[in-house]
Amino acid sequence: MQEEQILLLKQSWSYVLLQGDKIGELFYQTLFWDDPSLRFLFGTDLSGQVRKFMDMMTFIVANLQNIEAYEPELRALAQRHVQYGVLSVDYDTVGDSLLKTLATMLQEQWTPATETAWRKLYQTITRTMLNSLKSPK
Ligand code: HEM
Repeated sequence: MQEEQILLLKQSWSYVLLQGDKIGELFYQTLFWDDPSLRFLFGTDLSGQVRKFMDMMTFIVANLQNIEAYEPELRALAQRHVQYGVLSVDYDTVGDSLLKTLATMLQEQWTPATETAWRKLYQTITRTMLNSLKSPK
């Protein structure tokens, strides 16, 4: 991850956080619109899930400089997602919905460079999670 990309991710995520829980709500709305079958994987009350997702993203964005440091957390997260019934293909759907949501939230701040930085971050997280399932330590 380049310095400039780290800066763009931190700036854009801070802007998103200024708008409270909006990203979480909008993200799940977008996701269930894109693939309604995924709704059944989640419990009925999404509010706790919105908070956990936002906290995890905040943690990741705060620690972008050394992504290796939280590899153990991502491996454990991947294992838990298998228990939730999440399939590898679902990671693409979630990634698309996340990028769409960020684009809506960030409006004119959603520049091609910001989009590239988010795409790269999501790919890095997903690769770490899915690779760990192929070769569990
Ligand atoms: C970048 C990838 C992802 C991150 C960072 C992430 C983050 C999280 C976090 C922090 C939780 C809270 C529970 C826990 O820590 O185990 C969670 C739960 C969950 N996630 Fe994810 N997730 C990701 C990808 C996905 C994908 C691709 C799906 C597929 C639809 C998904 C579906 C779920 C479900 C069903 C739960 C459990 C909700 C419940 O208990 O009702 N996640 N996720």
